[in-house]
Amino acid sequence: MSGEVEWWEYDDAAEMAAAVAGDIGFIIESAIDARGAAVIALAGGETPIPIYEKLSSAKLDWKRVTIVPGDERIVPLGDPLSNVTTLAKYFLPKGARVMPIVPTAIADYKAAGRSADALMQDLHWPLDLCLLGVGSDGHAASIFPGPDFEEAVNGPKERRALGVLPDPMPSEAPVPRVTLSLAAITMARALLIAVRGNEKRAVIETAIKQGQSSPYPIGLALAGTDLPVDIHWAPA
Ligand code: 6PG
Repeated sequence: MSGEVEWWEYDDAAEMAAAVAGDIGFIIESAIDARGAAVIALAGGETPIPIYEKLSSAKLDWKRVTIVPGDERIVPLGDPLSNVTTLAKYFLPKGARVMPIVPTAIADYKAAGRSADALMQDLHWPLDLCLLGVGSDGHAASIFPGPDFEEAVNGPKERRALGVLPDPMPSEAPVPRVTLSLAAITMARALLIAVRGNEKRAVIETAIKQGQSSPYPIGLALAGTDLPVDIHWAPA
């Protein structure tokens, strides 16, 4: 099974940010109308920052919105690498419930993953939205090659998050991670991707062609959902 993929192209990051922020705002409003609350997982990294800047100025019922990072680096809160620290900067002042999934940077990354999974078990599920970025190596969230890859992509369907030790370590954030499982990503009620640059576009297009046999986590995510997926793209 795999959903229809539609590419949305923009001239620059600002145009993409306005469009994606509008889509996320609509998803949040629809979830609140339907279920009285919205629970969304937002990507880390640099690409979505302009989106969060734009989204944070939207007039939404923020007190009904729970935001979790779709993945987290196992670093102390406030560390420049901490994804939830970035999300808190934009959305805590709005009154949204921004939830750290790695409350303390413990050395045992598997224990951190189990703790994140337990925390997420208390959230209304499935996610109303999962916003993914994509690495130039085809990773999504923090599903990376390494000893935990199999567990991340083929673990128990009820597993929402787990600890991951990337191997090789990604240069931009060479630390163990906690990530949404592939199951948690693919069962989200909406899956949006926001990427920039031709290199990532080529990786995603290859991954789409590979389908469920793709070695790229983004390929497995796209092949694993039966929902239509919008991929928002702007030049690097
Ligand atoms: C992370 C992200 C990761 C990110 C990609 C793309 O914690 O690193 O969640 O999956 O989305 O690495 O990152 P950029 O947008 O910075 O290129």
